[in-house]
Amino acid sequence: MRGAHRTEEIAPFYVMQILARAAELEAAGKDVVHMEVGEPDFDTAPPIVEAGRRALAEGKTHYTPAIGIRALREAVSQFYRNRYDVEVPAERIVITPGATGALQLVLAATVDSGRSVMMTDPGYPCNRHYVTLLGGRTIAVPVDPETNYQLNADLAAKYMDADTAALLVASPANPTGAVLDDAGLQSLMALAADQNRFLIVDEIYHGLSYGRSLPTAAASPSVFVVNSFSKYFGMTGWRIGWVVAPPEHMDALDRLAQNMFLAVSTMAQHAALAAFQPETIQVLEQRRDEFQRRRDYLVPALKKLGFGVPVDPAGAFYVYADSSAVVPDSFSFCRDLLEEAGVAVTPGLDFGSHRAADHIRFAYTTSIDRLREGMDRTARFMESRRL
Ligand SMILES: Cc1ncc(COP(=O)(O)O)c(C=O)c1O
Repeated sequence: MRGAHRTEEIAPFYVMQILARAAELEAAGKDVVHMEVGEPDFDTAPPIVEAGRRALAEGKTHYTPAIGIRALREAVSQFYRNRYDVEVPAERIVITPGATGALQLVLAATVDSGRSVMMTDPGYPCNRHYVTLLGGRTIAVPVDPETNYQLNADLAAKYMDADTAALLVASPANPTGAVLDDAGLQSLMALAADQNRFLIVDEIYHGLSYGRSLPTAAASPSVFVVNSFSKYFGMTGWRIGWVVAPPEHMDALDRLAQNMFLAVSTMAQHAALAAFQPETIQVLEQRRDEFQRRRDYLVPALKKLGFGVPVDPAGAFYVYADSSAVVPDSFSFCRDLLEEAGVAVTPGLDFGSHRAADHIRFAYTTSIDRLREGMDRTARFMESRRL
C-alpha cells in the first residue's frame, strides 16, 4: 500500500546523505575533513552534563507540564534580562523539543491549511516541509548579497499575498550566517503588524555572533521567537529549545504541546537549568571565541581559492560561499570533493533553489587544523582539475 501523498513532497536532507557517505569512506579507512556538520564539535559543557546526571539520580524521570518546568521557564526569562536587558515573562515561554519542536508548534498554531508562509531562499530546509505537513504553501523569497541574504520589509511587501499567514526569518541565518540588525527587525515587525501577519523569528544561532551583539525580537509581545539549547549552549543531542509567544497564543500552544509531544525530556530540562550558570556561560563564551577564530581563518582562505564571500558571515558557524567563479555545478563538485579529496561540505541545493548550484556551505564546526587540512585538500583537488 502506498503512503500518504505528502511524503513525496518532503525532500531529503542532502547533508545527511553526505554524512552517510563520509561515514562509509571512513569505515573503509579514508580520512574525511568534516565541514558539513551543522552542530558544534564541542561536547556539552560539564556543568550541564552533571545537572542531567543529578536529575536522573534524583528520580526526575517522570512527565513534566507540557510547556516545561516552571524553573526552566523562569531561568530563560532571567536569561533575557541578563543578556539583553529585556523583560520576557516566564508566562510567555514554552519549552520545546529543540527549535524543531518550536517551529512545528508555532507553525501549527498560526498556519491554516491553504495559507502561505514566507521565508528566504536560501534558508533552513526543514521549514518548508513543516508548512507542507500543515497543508500550507511556502513563498520562497530569493535573497542575495544585495539584501544581506535576509528578508526586508520591501521584499516581504512585494512577495506577500492575500493568503500569507506568517513571515519566518532567522538571524543569524543558516546557511549564510547573515544577521538582521535592529532596524531590519523593527521594519519587519512594523510590516507584520500593519498587514496583520504573524512574524516568527528563529534566533537559534543567537550567542554565536562575531563582532556585534544581536537584537532579540523576544521583548515584543506580538512576535513568536524560536530558540534552542542546541547551538550556543551545545546541547544538540538533548533535544531541547523554547518559544517565546504572544500571551494570547499561550493556551493554544499548551494544548498543541500536550497533543504533539506531551512534554520535553525531563532530564534535558533539568540539565538545561545549568546552561545559564556563570561557569557554563564562561565555557560557552570561550567556544564562541574559538568559532570566531575559525571564521576569521576560513573566510580569507576560501576567497584565496576563488570562492566569493560577498557578505560577512556575522553569526552561526557557516560560510555560504559563491562557487560560480570556480565550478559550474556545486553539487557535483561537493560529491567529487568528498570522493576524491575526503572533504565533506554541503551543496547549495540543500537550502533552496535560488542560485543553489552556485553555492556551497562550509561549516566551521571542526578545529582550525582540520579546516586548514580541508582547504589544502580543496586547493589540490582544484589544481588537479585545473579549476
Ligand atoms: C535555522 C535553524 N533552525 C532550527 C534548527 C533546528 O535545531 P534544533 O532542533 O536542534 O534546535 C536548525 C538546525 O540546524 C537550524 O539551523
